[in-house]
Amino acid sequence: APAALVDAQARRVSYLRVSVTDRCDLRCSYCMAEKMTFLPRAEVLSLEELDRICSAFIAMGVEKLRVTGGEPLVRRDVMAFFRAMARHLRSGALRELTLTTNGTQLERHAEELAACGVRRVNVSLDTLDADKFARITRLGSLAPVLAGISAAEAAGLRVKINAVALKGVNEDELFALTDWCGARGFDLTFIEVMPMGAGLGAERFWPLSDLRSRLESRYPLVETAETSGGPARYVRVDGTGQKIGFITPLSHNFCASCNRVRLSCTGELFSCLGQTGKTDLRGLVRGAPEDDGLCAAIGRAIGQKTGGHGFDPVTRGGEIARMMSHTGG
Ligand code: GTP
Ligand code: 5AD
Ligand code: SF4
Repeated sequence: APAALVDAQARRVSYLRVSVTDRCDLRCSYCMAEKMTFLPRAEVLSLEELDRICSAFIAMGVEKLRVTGGEPLVRRDVMAFFRAMARHLRSGALRELTLTTNGTQLERHAEELAACGVRRVNVSLDTLDADKFARITRLGSLAPVLAGISAAEAAGLRVKINAVALKGVNEDELFALTDWCGARGFDLTFIEVMPMGAGLGAERFWPLSDLRSRLESRYPLVETAETSGGPARYVRVDGTGQKIGFITPLSHNFCASCNRVRLSCTGELFSCLGQTGKTDLRGLVRGAPEDDGLCAAIGRAIGQKTGGHGFDPVTRGGEIARMMSHTGG
């Protein structure tokens, strides 16, 4: 078997985030420009190419696969991809198959996702206010997302809500979001906005240290060492046990324990979200019948994985011009 994926800092890569499309039915201001030009179909990996690349990673030691986008559920054949990856769950090679979604199409897909072995979904939801939701997402409406979340629950999926902390936008909903998730038994994770793509990062940056102090004024929080395999650090509300996570790329760098890499929808392997270095894997599967070159390139790219992102916690500089939707966050 090919060698396990370990980088020069002895970090083992066991988590692959796969963007299956750059498209999205929303235009969240921190993620996309208002007017987007999406890639032509031929640039995007086919199902077969996706399968070969992901299967190579799994053979090399990836145990967790998260499907992202853009919005993964707007890709027409995305369920065929989930069905294909389900075989790696059945074989035991993959421990977790999951996705991050904006929820707009979840109502249609929740049951089949569960049938494919998906056990939990992360749904992006920054506000519970319909008008604010429309403003943040520019194109969206809240109701289908709430319906999607209910469908996920009904299908037996665990739901985690991801809320990007946006200064002056959802500050006033901190307790409302927390109570809403608590009442439904959903985990909730807050995310510091990163300076990528559309560049709203700096002006809306709300440090989670401040968010957390405000939470502590109302809920007794207890530290935990729990992990979901991603970068969040979790606390629990004493008494109710509600789980709340913090993803703090800027105020508390977590790169030393990074276990993940990203595959863009065009087959570029990014070994770090906050760096521009990449390896083209599409050229190694398209028209190449064997996987040897692919596996060698993956091994080399992991060997060169950088120590961490270059976002500056003070100036919030180190901006990456690439849109978040290209690599799936
Ligand atoms: P779990 O499996 O539930 O732990 O999910 P996750 O947090 O790994 O994935 P999710 O797609 O929910 O990501 C939530 C946020 O964390 C997104 O905004 C990501 O961009 C961010 N994130 C995930 N991994 C990294 C990382 O390696 N570096 C940085 N800077 N941000 C990350
Ligand atoms: N900074 C932080 N999080 C972001 N997301 C999208 N763009 C950004 C950004 N600039 C989040 C989405 C989703 C996750 C995959 O990434 O809201 O929850
Ligand atoms: Fe779409 Fe997610 Fe980006 Fe919002 S954050 S525009 S839902 S890909």
